[in-house]
Amino acid sequence: EHDILDKLPLKGKKILITAGPTYEAIDPVRFIGNHSSGKMGFEIAKVSASLGANVVLISGPTHQTVSHSLIKFIPVESAQDMYDAVHQHFETADVAILSAAVADFKPKQVALQKIKKADNTLTLELEKTKDILASLGAIKTHQFLVGFALETNNELENSKAKLKAKNLNLIVLNSLNDSGAGFKTDTNKVTFIDDKGSVNEFQLKTKAEVAKDLLDEIIKQIHA
Ligand code: CTP
Ligand code: CA
Repeated sequence: EHDILDKLPLKGKKILITAGPTYEAIDPVRFIGNHSSGKMGFEIAKVSASLGANVVLISGPTHQTVSHSLIKFIPVESAQDMYDAVHQHFETADVAILSAAVADFKPKQVALQKIKKADNTLTLELEKTKDILASLGAIKTHQFLVGFALETNNELENSKAKLKAKNLNLIVLNSLNDSGAGFKTDTNKVTFIDDKGSVNEFQLKTKAEVAKDLLDEIIKQIHA
């Protein structure tokens, strides 16, 4: 009934987690990034380890720190770096939780020298990054795959579409509409949607509490 209260319910399980933003290089000193703090992913890693899981935490640049014997921390910068690190660990993972705010686009060309302010305008051509989560959904066998969805409108509809398109077991809808939720805060307003169509909406909570709710739900589903 209350799996999360059991002793180390995730002992022996390998959980892969992505966190933070990615930085996409423009030239040797500049990048395209976003305001993701990494907090949500780091909280998920801490809760997972406290429940006995072997955690691989792959994160873009953040100020978060973590030190736990069960957490292997792999820092990365770009979406491609994150893609490579994730794919090195996915096959042996039991659960993958992709909470990173991966850049959707990167500069098509990275300037080898610092770009000079020669003209009054500068046009950067961008191309899509690889969708890490979708790439896992396409190859998953036994893994329980969890994604996040950041939405500002048509939230449920868009999240359900992502769950299906990326072949996920569970998606966490992050509602940016509600004040107090989002990138820079310590709180999130989430809704869990699973592949059977169950929708579970939560109140505004701290990211640590959201992490506990999420692991509670994952434990219920993988033990069911
Ligand atoms: N994601 C990923 N790789 C990318 C982009 C997104 O792994 N290149 C993952 C995120 O970590 C998240 C999920 O996909 O778990 C959804 O991210 P989101 O930005 O909400 O959706 P997108 O599929 O990128 O679509 P859009 O931004 O257009 O809404
Ligand atoms: Ca996106």
